[in-house]
Amino acid sequence: MKIRTGIALVAIMAATTMTAAFAQGLGADTYKAKCQMCHGAQGMADSGPGKAMKVKPVTDPEVKKFSEPQMIEAVKNGMGKMQPYKGKLTDAQIKEAVVYFRSFK
Ligand code: HEC
Repeated sequence: MKIRTGIALVAIMAATTMTAAFAQGLGADTYKAKCQMCHGAQGMADSGPGKAMKVKPVTDPEVKKFSEPQMIEAVKNGMGKMQPYKGKLTDAQIKEAVVYFRSFK
């Protein structure tokens, strides 16, 4: 009985990890192509344009306050110097890029 529960748990954990890795993999491409130049490879906004625009790093308390849906809204509608991505990227691409961005926290 105990062993079975153990195996089931490992299976569930493996499945969850794979789903997360898959979502991140998808988001990584969009993020690297469209977001990294301002938000940095690790979300730290340490790139040239990121510094010039004073983009906040993902570890900033102001950024941490954002929930995932709030971030999706910000990317869709634009925020400050960030252009709106609605119509430029699909909803799925925006969500995946945000999930990837949030994984740096
Ligand atoms: C031209 C530079 C630029 C690009 C490209 C860009 N952003 Fe931004 N982003 C900003 C600026 C400036 C803000 C305003 C708030 C700040 O300073 O962090 C911002 C804000 C955000 C926020 C709100 C939370 C926060 O960090 O303040 C999220 C989430 C975000 N961007 C994600 C993305 C994603 C995902 C992409 C790619 C689809 C992207 N950004 C592309 C410059 C950019």
